[in-house]
Amino acid sequence: MSTNPGSRIACVTVGLPATGKTLISQKVCRYLQWLGITTKVFNVGNYRRKLHGAHQLHDFFDPANPDGERSRREAAVEALKDMIYWFKKEQGVVALYDATNSTRSRRDMLLAECKKHDIQVMFIESVCEDESLVLHNIMSVKLSSPDYKDMDPEQAVEDFKARIVHYREAYETITEENLTYIKLINVGSQVIINHIQGYLQSRIVYYLMNLHIAPRSIFFSRHGESLYNVMGKLGGDSDLSARGKQYAKSLPLLIATHLGNSDQLTVWTSTMKRTIATAEHLKYPKLAWKALDELDAGVCDGMTYEEIEEQYPEDFANRDEDKFNYRYRGGESYRDVVLRLEPVIMELERQRNILIIGHQAILRCIYAYFMNHSHEKLPYIKIPLHTVIQLTPRAYACEEKRFKVDIEAVDTHRPKPKAGAAAKATVEPAVETPVEATVSDTSKQPLADASNDIGAKITTTTMSTTTFRDSAF
Ligand code: ATP
Ligand code: F6P
Repeated sequence: MSTNPGSRIACVTVGLPATGKTLISQKVCRYLQWLGITTKVFNVGNYRRKLHGAHQLHDFFDPANPDGERSRREAAVEALKDMIYWFKKEQGVVALYDATNSTRSRRDMLLAECKKHDIQVMFIESVCEDESLVLHNIMSVKLSSPDYKDMDPEQAVEDFKARIVHYREAYETITEENLTYIKLINVGSQVIINHIQGYLQSRIVYYLMNLHIAPRSIFFSRHGESLYNVMGKLGGDSDLSARGKQYAKSLPLLIATHLGNSDQLTVWTSTMKRTIATAEHLKYPKLAWKALDELDAGVCDGMTYEEIEEQYPEDFANRDEDKFNYRYRGGESYRDVVLRLEPVIMELERQRNILIIGHQAILRCIYAYFMNHSHEKLPYIKIPLHTVIQLTPRAYACEEKRFKVDIEAVDTHRPKPKAGAAAKATVEPAVETPVEATVSDTSKQPLADASNDIGAKITTTTMSTTTFRDSAF
């Protein structure tokens, strides 16, 4: 994605504690990084803890406490300095300056500094009038914060509520007409935008307008094994193998079992025969997206990896060198695919339960968005055949479960060859856990109640992501 050369944007969050500012910052960062835009979050709360320690009680945040006020300002200035340095030294494009920034004077200070360095400022204000949601936010993310480590949970809730009261005393919502801002009221049920300029700011606004926090799951499955998979051929539009058809039959029960109490689901496929056939037995609304078609291998479509290595040795080596950026002759690169999937991601953010029946490269790209994988790792993510992946968004990250159906299928994953080794020679061991995560529980448990019509066993693997984060001030 191209941006104006030299355009640098500081997205500055505004709002009371526990109104989703950090979640918003992290999501915008992940989205832009996925699109290839150099983006970073500067969380002032982390600076505050580093400079002044983690165990500050609510009176530290009292606007009538001059020591607290000075210390908080110090943390804000440190984060600001680092942000400006990052823009210059790392050619940063978008920074998320994550703090409460709830007074005019604090925002004026940020505006003045950013102006000096030719950085545009876009405010993202979150207003949440729903007391029960704020309480839920406190319980779900604040109690696990280092601020309240080893504190009795009830006491921690009371302290955090008192912190909010202090902020409310000094809080000034944004009203200045000359400022660039988006105001999200009650999780986007009302959105006010002002003075939004340029492509990148519009993208961020559009993205923010599509976010919701209602519980839901996103399921991924590759199509059942295809005839081309069996022959080791890339691309094409072949039918399912007998085992692939069996897998398609096993899907309805597997999905119903893991949808929980809901029967609300929409199935998205590509326009290719193998994904549509895999969805055949699922009795949910379906939508076929052209944007979900497999990465186009151009002149190599229909060839095996061995044939490509023989006929296009240079291309083959170049792909191993930089798989994300390598574009097949007359075809696509992973980078191209990420850009064509952007509308899919936007729509996914809007939706509730979705099952995507897709292809290896496509699902790698979508999975990398949710699980925050780098472009370098993305083309090697393992998305095996005959496996359903369930992602459930939690406070700051997604929980992952994998259900492997016991119907054999070929392995189409080609690992990255070791540096310097001939492409065919020794390969790196497969990356076992394709998430930068802690495997919290890995259990092999054939689903006792999953006696579906083909008698397939299912192996469940649970993984969970961990992200450190904390309150903004
Ligand atoms: P602090 O100022 O203490 O850093 P914060 O405003 O950064 O707090 P978060 O830590 O991001 O708040 O709170 C995360 C919680 O907020 C999550 O449980 C998430 O579901 C919820 N949330 C996300 N977006 C919103 C929103 N727009 N309004 C209210 N809550 C939201
Ligand atoms: O082999 C199955 C397949 O979906 C091909 O159609 C596609 O070219 C390939 O996977 C993508 O995987 P990789 O980028 O690792 O070659």
